[in-house]
Amino acid sequence: MDNRNRVFDCNILYLPVIQNKAGNITPVQNNIEVPFDIKRVYYLYDVPGGGERGGHAHKNLQQIVIAASGSFDITLDDGTNKKTVSLNRPYMGLQIRPGIWRDISNFSSGAICLVLASELYTETDYIRDYNSFLDYKRL
Ligand code: TYD
Repeated sequence: MDNRNRVFDCNILYLPVIQNKAGNITPVQNNIEVPFDIKRVYYLYDVPGGGERGGHAHKNLQQIVIAASGSFDITLDDGTNKKTVSLNRPYMGLQIRPGIWRDISNFSSGAICLVLASELYTETDYIRDYNSFLDYKRL
């Protein structure tokens, strides 16, 4: 369990860009550009206008969130402090540590939210109720 992380522990990782007139490449490798072993990749897309995602925290999962296309805002909350980060470049990855509530909003049309995750999907890792999250942070 890691309930002591703060929003200040969640920062942008600037991923490498291999520039080419024919288009750019950003490589992401386990324990090199990303500070953990990636066990799962998923992506959100076709989010309707005005749609919001997130609305939960994780107990153990670490994530890197990338706007692979378009843009959106992520509001992080550690129960005491909040921080909103705008992601709008495919070489910016927001590291979200365990024990941080997140809300994702302001998706641009066609946005793709790419998530690199340190664990396989397991519902028991989620905290989906905000008051339960506050209790968890007070443990
Ligand atoms: P959720 O993580 O709550 O979505 P978001 O944070 O984007 O709002 O997941 C939504 C649904 O999708 C939920 O029923 C669980 C399911 N899901 C999986 O089955 N596997 C996964 O890897 C993810 C991320 C979600």
